[in-house]
Amino acid sequence: MRDADVGDKRVLVRSDLNVPLEEGRIADETRIQASLPTLRLVLERRAREVTVCSHLGRPQGPDPALSMRPVEQRLRELLPDDRVRVLENTRFNPGETKDDPAFAQELADGHDLFVQDAFGSVHRAHASTVGVARILPSYTGLLLERELVELRKLLGDVERPFVLISGGAKVEDKLGVLRNLGGKADVVLVGGKMAEEVRAENPLPFDVVLPSDVVAASEFAADAKTRVVPYAELPDGWLGLDIGPETRKLFGSHIARARTIFWNGPMGVFEWPRFAEGTKAVAEAVASADAYSIVGGADSSRALAELGLADRVSWLSTGGGAALELLEGKELPGVAVIPEAR
Ligand code: 3PG
Repeated sequence: MRDADVGDKRVLVRSDLNVPLEEGRIADETRIQASLPTLRLVLERRAREVTVCSHLGRPQGPDPALSMRPVEQRLRELLPDDRVRVLENTRFNPGETKDDPAFAQELADGHDLFVQDAFGSVHRAHASTVGVARILPSYTGLLLERELVELRKLLGDVERPFVLISGGAKVEDKLGVLRNLGGKADVVLVGGKMAEEVRAENPLPFDVVLPSDVVAASEFAADAKTRVVPYAELPDGWLGLDIGPETRKLFGSHIARARTIFWNGPMGVFEWPRFAEGTKAVAEAVASADAYSIVGGADSSRALAELGLADRVSWLSTGGGAALELLEGKELPGVAVIPEAR
């Protein structure tokens, strides 16, 4: 978009404003902040109107709990300009995830050009990521451009050891990716929900370091009874909601030796303080390492931001699944559709 003539144009910008919400409040605004440089540039270059669109969560149709309005309010505080408007959650329309041409046309109508800046969503072939880019002249935004530059560094020759750390939920999205990516790393550390899955099915064709101990909880609740146990001795019906102290040390020692790091996904239910220590330990180890470090995904970013460590990593990626797919070497549909980005 650096070369796009946006003067007096009506510009549609796809940002990734899919922020974590807690009781209707924005729990981490990293993605909103990250979307600002592109929006500011479009406004500075005298666009006539700027329409921002994004998905939020995974609604199955309209759902007031996933309305864009709190996000819009925050964006307006950060960017008070009457030319900006924010559309409602794109996933309220069933056409979004099906890349329905009619919905893409609806988004495109009334706009002269499209700027794709939602790095976190470009692995989705949806109406707001791919469909609309087939209709309007399309450009990449500043965030998307920078994300591609930083993450592509991991695709070339990297300094070794290359340590890959994987955790978090969205397990079904990540397992296949991890299978392809893990072979490129020297050490693969797996925690969080991912670890349970990997242990249960042991589907990975390379060595992984799994947690040796866990913080076990009697139920899935912030105030559950807890106990630190070796993983193999997890009592029946109890859940491992964080990696234990021994695992934190083990993961920490691998991370300290790394020269290249990619971390995606928390080590436990870090939103609940009693299960946050493992994620904190990994965040601190990554921030202290003398390595080129990329941290991806909303939850890991949030953990780093909460610890005040966001500026201690080489690149804080706003993409989770998108970053993983890019590293896996897959073509990202939302990038492939834009001529200048390919
Ligand atoms: C993310 O949070 O990784 C992106 O916003 C994409 O969200 P999705 O996995 O629901 O498509």
